[in-house]
Amino acid sequence: MRNEQIKPNVSTTELERQQAIIEEIRQINDEYFKETGKKRHFYNFVMGCQMNARDSEKLAGMLTEMGYIETENEKEADFVIYNTCCVRENAENKVYGNLGYLKNYKSKKPDMIIALCGCMMQQPTVIQTIKKKYRHVDIVFGTFNLYKLPELLKTRLETGHTIFDIWETHEEIIEDLPSIRKKKFKASVNIMFGCNNFCTYCIVPYVRGRERSRKKEDIIAEIKALVADGVKEVMLLGQNVNSYGKNLEEPVTFAELLREINEIEGLERIRFMTSHPKDLSDELIYAMRDCDKVSKALHLPFQAGSNTVLERMNRRYTKEGYLTLIDKLKKEIPDILLTTDIIVGFPGETEEDFEHTLDVVRKVGYSSAFTFIYSKRTGTPAAEYEDQIPEDVTKNRFNRLLTLVNTMVHDVNEKFIGHIMPVLVEEESKNSKNMVTGRTPNNLLVHFEGDESLIGTVVDVKLIENKAFYIIGERN
Ligand code: SAH
Ligand code: SF4
Ligand code: F3S
Repeated sequence: MRNEQIKPNVSTTELERQQAIIEEIRQINDEYFKETGKKRHFYNFVMGCQMNARDSEKLAGMLTEMGYIETENEKEADFVIYNTCCVRENAENKVYGNLGYLKNYKSKKPDMIIALCGCMMQQPTVIQTIKKKYRHVDIVFGTFNLYKLPELLKTRLETGHTIFDIWETHEEIIEDLPSIRKKKFKASVNIMFGCNNFCTYCIVPYVRGRERSRKKEDIIAEIKALVADGVKEVMLLGQNVNSYGKNLEEPVTFAELLREINEIEGLERIRFMTSHPKDLSDELIYAMRDCDKVSKALHLPFQAGSNTVLERMNRRYTKEGYLTLIDKLKKEIPDILLTTDIIVGFPGETEEDFEHTLDVVRKVGYSSAFTFIYSKRTGTPAAEYEDQIPEDVTKNRFNRLLTLVNTMVHDVNEKFIGHIMPVLVEEESKNSKNMVTGRTPNNLLVHFEGDESLIGTVVDVKLIENKAFYIIGERN
C-alpha cells in the first residue's frame, strides 16, 4: 500500500482514535495468549540522539498498551522496530546491515513484523531503496506521524501489505502519548521539535521539519506529573533550545521557562540540550546562574574554529564571538563545565583552519567533547561543495584533535579532585562490582563504592582520582 502524503492537520480526536485501536490490538494479543499461552514481544532498537531516544519511549509506551512485552532478544520478537538516525552515513549503513540479518530471522519466524521509523525514513531515496531491496520490511513511517503506530500496525495485520506512511510535515504537536521511561528517577521532556538553522552539513532540518515549541503549560504539567511519579532530574530536549518559545502564540523565552521549571517542588535537577551559540542570550546565562536546580553544565557545540569554515557551515557566529560567550559563562558561573561537538574535515578545511579548532579546544577547556569526521549528506548544501577533504588528511586531523581533547579533559576535571559534591546515583557500574555510577550537578561522571539501593538517591561523594572521562570517588 502506498500512502505518502502531506497531512498538515490532525484533529484532537485523532489520539482517541489511536487509543481505540490500541485497545483492539490488545484484545487480539490477549486472545493469542489465551490460545497459545504465549505473550507477544517487541524489540525496540533506537539510534541517534536523545530526541530519538525520547520518541522510542513513546513507541514502547504504545506497544506495551497494545499488550506487547519488551524483549532484548531480537530473534524472538514478534514485532521489531528500528527508530533510525541519518545524521552521518555510518548510522544509515548500520540499518541496512541489520536489515540483512533480520531477513534471516524472519525466514525462521514468518509472523515477525519489521517496522522502520525515524529520521532516515524521511528521505525519499531511502524509501526507494527499501522498496527495491528490503521487501521483508512491513511498516515504514517517519518522524511526523509516530503517534499513528497503532493504526499502521492494525492495517498491516488486516491487509498483510507493506505500509509506507511518510509525511513531509506536521505542525500540530500530539500531547499525552503513552510512554515508558527506562529510569524511574530521571526523564527526558521535549520542549520543542525541529530545527530552522540549516547548518550546511546537517540533514536534521530536512528530516525533522521546522521549529515547533510546546506550550509552556503543557511542559510544566508534564514535569509536575513526572515528579509526582518519582522523577528527580529532567532533561529538556530540543535541537536548539535557545530559540524555544519564539513562535508560540504567547511568546516565552527559554530563560523564562527554566526559571518556572526551577520552582517545581520536588524536582532536584534540570538539564537541557542542545544550545546553539548564536542564540545564547545573557538572560539565559543569568537564569542558569540563578536557578539552583539547573545543572551547571552546558553543551555548546562550536563545530569548527575557523571563521571561514564557520561561515561556510552557516553557523552565524565567529570564533571570537564564541570565545566571548565562554568568558561570560565562566565569569557568571565559575564552576560551570562545558562540553561540545566538533566536526573535522568539513569541505575546504585547510591546515590553518584546523589549527583554529585546536585553539578553541585549548582555550575553552572542555570536560568532554564529541568529535565527528565530516560525513557528506545528500541534499545538504555542503555535499555540493567542491573541495571535499581526502580521508587520510581528515583522519590525521581527527587523531590530533582526539589527543588534545583527551589531555584537556584530564586537566579540566583535575580541579575538582578533593571536592565533595552531591552525586545523583544512576546505575550499578558496568565494569566493576560493588561500584555505582552517578553525576554531579555539573555533570561529572563519578564511580564510587556502593550498591543498587543507592540508585536514584543523591549522595555526597569526595572526588579522589581523575581518570579523565570519569572520576573515582569515595562516600563522604
Ligand atoms: N542540534 C544540535 C545537534 C544536532 S546533530 C546542534 O546544533 O548542536 C549532533 C552533532 O552531529 C552536531 O552537533 C554535529 O557536530 C554533528 N553532525 C551533524 N551533521 C554532521 C555531518 N554531516 N557530519 C559529521 N557530523 C555531523
Ligand atoms: Fe543541525 Fe545546525 Fe540544526 Fe543543529 S542547529 S540540528 S547542527 S542544522
Ligand atoms: Fe539523528 Fe535524527 Fe537525532 S538524524 S541525530 S536521530 S534528529
